[in-house]
Amino acid sequence: MANATSNITRPTIKSWGFVLMVLFFIGVYGIYRNKFMEEPQVRQPPYRILNRTFKGEGACDAKRNFMFVKVHKAGSTTATCIFQRFGYEHNLTFVLSVIKSDVGWPNLLRQEDFIPSADGTYNVLVDHTVYNRQLLDHLMPTDTVYISILRQPLAQLRSVFNWYGLAKKIKGLGRSDPVASFIKSPNQFHVPYVKALSHTRQPYTLEKNFMAYDLGFPLGLSDSQSSIDEFVETLSREIDLVLILEHMDESLVLLRRRMCWALKDILYNVEPKNLRSYKKTPMSTALLNQHRRWSNVDYQLYDHFNATLWQKIGKEGADFLHEVHHFRNVLNQTTIFCTKAMVKVPAFDEKHKNVVRSTFALNGKASKLTIPKTAWHEEFDIDPALCLKLKMEWVDWEHVLKKKHKMPQNISSGITRAIEYPSTKVLDKSLLLKIFDVD
Ligand SMILES: *[C@@H]1O[C@H](CO)[C@@H](O)[C@H](O)[C@H]1NC(C)=O
Ligand SMILES: *[C@@H]1O[C@H](CO)[C@@H](O)[C@H](O)[C@H]1NC(C)=O
Ligand SMILES: *[C@@H]1O[C@H](CO)[C@@H](O)[C@H](O)[C@H]1NC(C)=O
Ligand SMILES: *[C@@H]1O[C@H](CO)[C@@H](O)[C@H](O)[C@H]1NC(C)=O
Ligand SMILES: *[C@@H]1O[C@H](CO)[C@@H](O)[C@H](O)[C@H]1NC(C)=O
Repeated sequence: MANATSNITRPTIKSWGFVLMVLFFIGVYGIYRNKFMEEPQVRQPPYRILNRTFKGEGACDAKRNFMFVKVHKAGSTTATCIFQRFGYEHNLTFVLSVIKSDVGWPNLLRQEDFIPSADGTYNVLVDHTVYNRQLLDHLMPTDTVYISILRQPLAQLRSVFNWYGLAKKIKGLGRSDPVASFIKSPNQFHVPYVKALSHTRQPYTLEKNFMAYDLGFPLGLSDSQSSIDEFVETLSREIDLVLILEHMDESLVLLRRRMCWALKDILYNVEPKNLRSYKKTPMSTALLNQHRRWSNVDYQLYDHFNATLWQKIGKEGADFLHEVHHFRNVLNQTTIFCTKAMVKVPAFDEKHKNVVRSTFALNGKASKLTIPKTAWHEEFDIDPALCLKLKMEWVDWEHVLKKKHKMPQNISSGITRAIEYPSTKVLDKSLLLKIFDVD
């Protein structure tokens, strides 16, 4: 019995000594950490980070001259806000439209469509304009990076129907699925040329090869395969990166690497903007093929650039998809933090003494979220002001950027008076003043 007890006791005493020592060191470390280090705000990502294969931040110069060829209803808003935020944070000069939106679109860009800049040079163009490389080469610096975006053409058509209210505007479409009804007999319903503005000279169309139109495909050539091939070939030479909406996070990580930007630069508001719900009845293969034949240029563009996106990703090395995973993780944590950092407050109409809508305010109690350093980026903070910037919509940025835009000294008062400022959605007067120092 005694022997047995001592056999058990001796190692137990040793283990206890060991445990006490560990506890002592944990205690010392705890005191040290409380005293000298800030409590970490987020946990390390729940996966192992591979060895660094991409050159870290600062290893190359961030690209500051770029054009985003915005494509209608292709999810451009998310990307546009990223570009607007980057340009704002880096004091870049934008090509901004004189009217509320659109730099010349649906026509080709003209001098009078945009607000002149103080020194006559520009870094960034992100508003709707018809892509025409010859014109753009005159306007943008020679090292401009050209970026665009495409979306699966049927999803894009559904979004066009929704946004432009085509189900109601086009008479005689089936009620249950207007898009399917349209695709069944497109020639019957198609409105070939739409005039958006009185000075419109260039015809365009919403329901056929609309993405190709924004990218500069001349209407009337869609039946000639050789001109489509030439068009796709020219674009793949001229456009440095085409984002694909269905693979947005991969597209953005690739963008970050190509532009030599920080991970913080490509954060976005994960709640979809412009994405209103629409009916998504599955379509028969016959109808899908019919749409493919109808919007043939858009499909060929989409297939080509989705393939090249993945070819580029394939060349990025093994850690690419890990970075995408990490990016999603950061987006997730950012969303959770920002939900607390931004509070909804009622906006009062002083005149009528009633609440007109709700607006946002920064939660003064929320401090910041620290994202620890990884193989792809240095440590960075997300604070309530960044949450606000992520929440801002295209119109909010456009308003701020126009107010901040530096014009030539001798500009005619006619131009100054002609500039239209879009009304903001997220920003109210106090936020405009407090965060951006503009009215
Ligand atoms: C990371 O690099 C170290 C040193 O070069 C190497 O020993 C280790 O195996 C690498 N780890 C991975 C996961 O590649
Ligand atoms: C942008 O301009 C502001 C005010 O002139 C300045 O404080 C800031 O450092 C500039 N930022 C960059 C990235 O150049
Ligand atoms: C894009 O291409 C990749 C690689 O070929 C493929 O796996 C993916 O399904 C394609 N995406 C879409 C939305 O078609
Ligand atoms: C964040 O990730 C967790 C776990 O994967 C998930 O349950 C949660 O819904 C995500 N939150 C957001 C806001 O995406
Ligand atoms: C303003 O000055 C610039 C250079 O001094 C000149 O090129 C331009 O024509 C002037 N614009 C007007 C509207 O006077």
